[in-house]
Amino acid sequence: MNRPLALALSTEPRVTLRAAEPRDLEDLRVWKNANRKSFFFQSEITPEMQKTWYASYLLRPEDFMFIVEHKGRKVGCMGFRLQKDGSADVYNIIVAPGGAGKGLMKAAMGLMCAHIASHHTKDIGCLVLKGNPAVTFYEHCGFKNVADAGDHIILKLEEGKA
Ligand SMILES: CC(C)(COP(=O)(O)OP(=O)(O)OC[C@H]1O[C@@H](n2cnc3c(N)ncnc32)[C@H](O)[C@@H]1OP(=O)(O)O)[C@@H](O)C(=O)NCCC(=O)NCCS
Repeated sequence: MNRPLALALSTEPRVTLRAAEPRDLEDLRVWKNANRKSFFFQSEITPEMQKTWYASYLLRPEDFMFIVEHKGRKVGCMGFRLQKDGSADVYNIIVAPGGAGKGLMKAAMGLMCAHIASHHTKDIGCLVLKGNPAVTFYEHCGFKNVADAGDHIILKLEEGKA
């Protein structure tokens, strides 16, 4: 069961990850819409669509969506999905207004990847649309460009980085 999962970093910055709940849906929607050009699905998400997503998400035990918090405030979101081939895909990495550029998302990514590596798999990747400056963020988090896939690139977390 993935829903009650919560992770906390014991070193600075003390970010925490907790499973997304219904009370987070509006923030998730607003953050995604504000950054939609960075993602594969680029249409505006309505409150109804967000609710439908959450209902189907709850039916997928291999799918984990977290709210990142720091000092009791929401600073962003991130998730991972376990794939049929045994690997994990990190996705929906978005910093909230006010949380950017403080190293909080990098710390949260480290925490999430350490959890994935110790509980699921060390084969951790992500897909990034070409031209998205977030690729530099992933590189700072220990990911490496491993393949060109047309409109996007495939990154993998380097061995020993989780
Ligand atoms: C990607 C994103 C979550 C990074 O958030 P952030 O608050 O800037 O991240 P951090 O402060 O934790 O940055 C960690 C490191 O990445 C670097 N970094 C982050 N974004 C960067 C950028 N656009 N260009 C260059 N470096 C960047 C930081 O300089 C920092 O470097 P350090 O390791 O030397 O400290 C944020 O830019 C975002 O929400 N982007 C829009 C959504 C998106 O594109 N998500 C990914 C979809 S694949």
